[in-house]
Amino acid sequence: MSGSAITPWVVGNWKMNPMQSDSQQLIQSLKQYLQAAPISAQQCRIAVAPTAIALLPVQQQLKDAAVDVLTVAQDLSRVAGTGAYTGEVSAELLKDSGIEHVLIGHSERRELFGDNVQIITEKVKNALKADLSIIYCVGESLEQRESGQAEQVVLQQICDLANVVSNAQWTKVIVAYEPIWAIGTGKTASPADAQAMHANIRSGLKQLTPHGETMAILYGGSVKAENAEALAACPDINGALVGGAALNAESFYQIAQAFAQVKK
Ligand code: 13P
Repeated sequence: MSGSAITPWVVGNWKMNPMQSDSQQLIQSLKQYLQAAPISAQQCRIAVAPTAIALLPVQQQLKDAAVDVLTVAQDLSRVAGTGAYTGEVSAELLKDSGIEHVLIGHSERRELFGDNVQIITEKVKNALKADLSIIYCVGESLEQRESGQAEQVVLQQICDLANVVSNAQWTKVIVAYEPIWAIGTGKTASPADAQAMHANIRSGLKQLTPHGETMAILYGGSVKAENAEALAACPDINGALVGGAALNAESFYQIAQAFAQVKK
């Protein structure tokens, strides 16, 4: 199967946005776009990752959407199960709430909240043990890119993941490449640069697991309706992890539509 035969995923990472009433409007509007011109799950998997406090209302509101839209958690606890861990939400609690997917290792968590390799791998282990699927984020800083270390940094992050994923668990993994310098800056990696990194990631994954051949590798970093088509045209870019543009239903829908059309 070639990279472009993989069903694309377009995931909206809402980060610490928006207020509940705006979230309701955003979902309402997204549902209207999907009602008017549905994008099937075979064409493109669509998912949104709201804040922890909006996960269940969003999931509820999406129940009658014209197509299946997944609700994804942005994070989970490094601690499993239940117990005296104030402020934490475990993999088991997410699963118990009907949440099946979680982002792990986003650069904002790594840079601002101290999620180091140990914490990230604990989160990966907990998520997979609770039978959640993970969207594992990797990406280099501008400094690392400029000093020629981008590939090495990203492949190391893939190796960190491989250390805690068993053979059978790879089917529960999606990778998102998000160069840190492209996040929220309006600067997208050029399709050629992004494709080159995605091809490296795929070849690394293929050495680790047969599933590497068909694993979705998403690109994130200033994805917009305007650049989605060019990114979607790259064989190893199997979708997008969208930040800012996911807060607008029309642009988010258009990004999903671009991937659905280009990849068909
Ligand atoms: P932007 O699309 O706002 O650059 O954010 C990307 C991102 O971090 C998605 O997880």
